[in-house]
Amino acid sequence: MMTRRARIGGVTRIELELGDITTVSADAIVNAANSSLLGGGGVDGAIHRRGGPEILAACKALRANDFRDGLPTGQAVATTAGRLAAHWVIHAVGPVFTTTQDRSELLATCHREALRVADEVGATTVAFPAISTGIFGWPVADAARIAVATVRATPTAVTEVRFVLFDAPALAAFESAL
Ligand code: APR
Repeated sequence: MMTRRARIGGVTRIELELGDITTVSADAIVNAANSSLLGGGGVDGAIHRRGGPEILAACKALRANDFRDGLPTGQAVATTAGRLAAHWVIHAVGPVFTTTQDRSELLATCHREALRVADEVGATTVAFPAISTGIFGWPVADAARIAVATVRATPTAVTEVRFVLFDAPALAAFESAL
């Protein structure tokens, strides 16, 4: 009897790579943003620097309309990618790490929301940085576990997710999580 593996609509491929996410030519790259959507350091700074003023202009328009109080932690929104090779930047706000509260669900949610926004804009290849593991202080091994598990469990039309890691420890953490 021929068995047909029904596609559960999940991501079919997860790739890991070491590099600068602003050089990746996926349909969409995910920005590790903050609620202001007005830029920052890390990935956020790199994306705005390399993507150019169009991205900030689009973020300011979002602040003036849909997100007057900023984008809440765990949520995501798409803008143009400006001069980047990608078509869209999906700004996702990860939680700040703290030992006094378990915010794991918020970290999972921002990955799930980034995939939902990718589906909305029709992006089928999406590059993620290691959200919350830099300035927001999340231990990278735990963040990698949450990120990989969430991407694997989320029904989506996205066919390929690439985690683009900036240093060897982060890459090793994601390799272990896979
Ligand atoms: N490409 C890929 N990964 C990068 C890049 C880059 N160009 N630059 C930094 N990283 C990595 C960091 O090494 C870290 O592993 O991205 C991960 C996330 O780090 P941050 O960019 O600091 O993001 P996060 O920890 O989520 O903190 C978000 O930082 O930049 C500000 O405005 C941002 O307030 C927000 C906060």
